[in-house]
Amino acid sequence: HEIPQDLFTAINELKQELNAVILAHYYQEADIQDIADYLGDSLGLSQQAANTDAEVIVFAGVHFMAETAKILNPNKLVLLPDLEAGCSLADSCPPKEFKAFKEAHQDHIVISYINCSAEIKALSDIICTSSNAVKIVNQIPQEQPIIFAPDRNLGRYVSEQTGRDLVMWEGSCIVHETFSEKRIVELKVEHPTAEIIAHPECEPPVLRHADFIGSTTALLNYSQNSPKNKFIVATEPGIIHQMEKAAPNKLFIPAPGIDDNCACNECPYMRLNTLEKLYLAMKNKTPEITMAEDIRIAALKPIQRMLEMS
Ligand code: 13P
Ligand code: SF4
Repeated sequence: HEIPQDLFTAINELKQELNAVILAHYYQEADIQDIADYLGDSLGLSQQAANTDAEVIVFAGVHFMAETAKILNPNKLVLLPDLEAGCSLADSCPPKEFKAFKEAHQDHIVISYINCSAEIKALSDIICTSSNAVKIVNQIPQEQPIIFAPDRNLGRYVSEQTGRDLVMWEGSCIVHETFSEKRIVELKVEHPTAEIIAHPECEPPVLRHADFIGSTTALLNYSQNSPKNKFIVATEPGIIHQMEKAAPNKLFIPAPGIDDNCACNECPYMRLNTLEKLYLAMKNKTPEITMAEDIRIAALKPIQRMLEMS
């Protein structure tokens, strides 16, 4: 296929032609964020997917997000620009092992972070995201034991916030694990007035220094509303594009990873999507997300519970 010079115009034309909506996560490259119809965190994107009238959903994010959109919209075509856009956190929780884990804790209710496969969702009672996890756990009766999967860092944070013991699946995100406490503290010494804002997927040594902890949308809102004008941002730096757009006079410094020589705080899966692949996906109506109907039906229930409880 020939790639048109002006991808923005070509994508907008295809959008009309297909009656498509483009949903994008904040960790996408700036061009994709700029062409999206809706930009959000995982919760916002799933709410958007649940309510769209479009016939085609183009999901500029990772596989589990597009899968969630498909679970909610079985009759719509859901496109993901690059099918290889996975997630280390979702991969850290294989269904067979998780099923055995669940069976070993029979009386527990299963709350799973949305960053997991459709198979794991199908084994869960309630889904949550980083923006509603505390709220959802707080709605579970005190005496009810809980399994929390698959992110141990979000789980630990939720446990601290709610005072609840959670039986944890020990998964983690390769991006949020790379931030260096030492280098963040060095940056803070260099910029003493800066506020450190962090995603709860970060590890405890980083979260300990944070002035504010929240989902990507919460971090964006906080940075806009705070009277401070400098921020050290401990999450995937794609979000900084929106932070700068919303507050052009403020300074946003991406929190450094352990290794200075790589952009290892960028999510390698999210960044597989490009404007060109987005165009080709719409042009060719592929790659599309598909799944077995029994898995879809089982995975839908805990997502609906999340949407009701949010
Ligand atoms: P939120 O979109 O909920 O902030 O989560 C970030 C993330 O890691 C998505 O993969
Ligand atoms: Fe998964 Fe981490 Fe990438 Fe989010 S940032 S998609 S949790 S690997």
